[in-house]
Amino acid sequence: MFEDIQEVLVTREALEEKVKELGKRISKDYEGKELVLIGVLKGGVVFFADLIRHITIPIEMDFISVSSYGNSTKSSGVVRIIKDIDIDITNKHVLIVEDLVDTGLTLRYLKDLFEDRGPKDVKVCTALDKPSRRKVDVPIAYNGITIPDKFVVGYGLDFGGKYRNLPDVCVLKESVYDNKVD
Ligand code: XMP
Ligand code: MG
Repeated sequence: MFEDIQEVLVTREALEEKVKELGKRISKDYEGKELVLIGVLKGGVVFFADLIRHITIPIEMDFISVSSYGNSTKSSGVVRIIKDIDIDITNKHVLIVEDLVDTGLTLRYLKDLFEDRGPKDVKVCTALDKPSRRKVDVPIAYNGITIPDKFVVGYGLDFGGKYRNLPDVCVLKESVYDNKVD
């Protein structure tokens, strides 16, 4: 796995520092409010687990699993729910926790989906942001680290289902991307 890495784009230390800062801000902003954190499976799981341990107010948590039609490196914008959340978000504050905002199509869909269920508000927290590829505007209340337009893996993000457990955000060697077309 490590031999496939070309470059570490965001180190685990930089991620940790950012996650701490976001956790602090969230704890302050939602003090005294009913907050539900919704993690987006599978990529958002690593960030989610780190983030909640830096949140010092009571929260509820749930997960949604979505897949976007298209190939593995491009989002088509057509989103399909594989697993919905179980809890009722009526009158609660919702914070969607994502690994990465790319075109913004997935988050636009999720925001609209949850907003239709009567929450107090729906905001977005992402570990990584690739603003250069945005197709639809989605406000990001809690933004982690802005990255250039490169396909990245690690810290929850995968290529062909692999590399999610790399602790840093990395770019793989070109030969890895070339050899696997799915
Ligand atoms: P959109 O384009 O809808 O897509 O904002 C967001 C989701 O697409 C995936 N994505 C990536 N996954 N490396 C990945 O492993 C990447 O560089 C990348 N760019 C987008 C990711 O699941 C994200 O939540
Ligand atoms: Mg994702």
